[in-house]
Amino acid sequence: MKTLEQTRLATLMARERERFTKEHPRSRKLHQQAGHSLLSGVPMNWMTRWPGDFPVFVAKASGARLTDVDGIEYVDLCLGDTGAMAGHAPAPTLKAIARQVRRGLTTMLPSADAVWVGDELRRRFGLAYWQFTLSATDANRFAIRLCREITGRTKVLVYDHCYHGSVDETFATLGPDGTVGPSHGNIGPGVNPALTTRVVQWNDVAALERALAAGDVACVLAEPVMTNVGIVLPDDGYHAALRELTRRYGTLLIIDETHTLCAGPGGYTGAHGLDPDLLTIGKAIGGGVPCGAYGMSKAVAARVLEHTLWDVADVGGIGGTLAANPLSLAAMRATLAEVLTDAAFARMIALGERFEQGVAETIAAYDVPWHVVRVGCRAEYLFVRERPRNGAEAGAAMDRDLDAFMHLYMLNRGVLMTPFHMMALMSPATTEADVDRHTAVFREAVAELVGG
Ligand SMILES: Cc1ncc(COP(=O)(O)O)c(C=O)c1O
Repeated sequence: MKTLEQTRLATLMARERERFTKEHPRSRKLHQQAGHSLLSGVPMNWMTRWPGDFPVFVAKASGARLTDVDGIEYVDLCLGDTGAMAGHAPAPTLKAIARQVRRGLTTMLPSADAVWVGDELRRRFGLAYWQFTLSATDANRFAIRLCREITGRTKVLVYDHCYHGSVDETFATLGPDGTVGPSHGNIGPGVNPALTTRVVQWNDVAALERALAAGDVACVLAEPVMTNVGIVLPDDGYHAALRELTRRYGTLLIIDETHTLCAGPGGYTGAHGLDPDLLTIGKAIGGGVPCGAYGMSKAVAARVLEHTLWDVADVGGIGGTLAANPLSLAAMRATLAEVLTDAAFARMIALGERFEQGVAETIAAYDVPWHVVRVGCRAEYLFVRERPRNGAEAGAAMDRDLDAFMHLYMLNRGVLMTPFHMMALMSPATTEADVDRHTAVFREAVAELVGG
């Protein structure tokens, strides 16, 4: 095994930073100007976490390509961290949006598209009844509320190092002594999440059972594969145990498919025959237009209806006047019907396999202690040899310096990776040549790092 020396990494990083700054004068200028009115010179604070001394400012994005204000074009493997998994500005979605724009944007009344989208979500995921939101975050918040309401229980169970959007109950972590507390960076928690939340490690069946046995957990909220601390796969049999234990202890199971839609047209649920009580989703299904949805089984729906106070249903904590607006629904319909189709997924998943193979070959050729992992059309490499089995292991495996270097190296050579970790996503517009471009740059980066 060749060693990755820290001094070489620092030298290479300095070179890449200099190159980035030199090649992006317009982005730098916009960032400076933005500092007058935008906090940290960006519209959302976390955008400063892109590599380089400032983020690139976007001129346009189309298909699997993004062009910045300096005229540099990128193969976009970030795809808005899944929001653009359908490709940027897909033609059928654009057409549907343009048609809907002329017919009205928001009405607080149902449109025919809502019927089509509800039927399609039911067909893909198997959940009987659906409702809409403006984001996956809201879908999760509302699903949690409903679970608490109909079970009469207070607690939510999540996995250490999970991410489900800005949902208060989920910003909880498991300390080394097994106690629950606010996760690192939890901004202004209203209460200590220990009051609202139980946290267990992914793949730990015994801990899950201990946490559920108290009988006060309304719901488990889980991604079927963890995707927000690198990709952490479920062990064989873990989902069966999760389903069996939640049923045994009267806890509802919410599966969050926002990212794992990458596993196939019906997400991981469809691909692996999961049977959740509720399912949440957002991001990609609107082709880039803000949207979200949550589905529930017939049994859950019956309990929800029993608990609904109709005269105050609009102000009971589940709502949003813009939710289910005709624009989002027109976008969802076109995206699901014509863009994220079965045929598109078959191609996207084949590209994911190609990406995985290219990375694996370089890792083997240079014998670096890393690995690559994939779920459908999403792949990721981590800078440790062994696959982590849970969030704590995956969190500990993060190497911030190497991660920043790899992101910047890619960016300087026209490849955009998802910030925060080395994740790549394939869209219907992504090509084999795009994947091969990444493979070539990855190989170049590794060769430089090991000095070979
Ligand atoms: C698994 C999962 N669920 C929900 C969300 C929230 O999505 P949004 O920020 O679009 O509300 C995210 C965001 O990254 C996510 O990764």
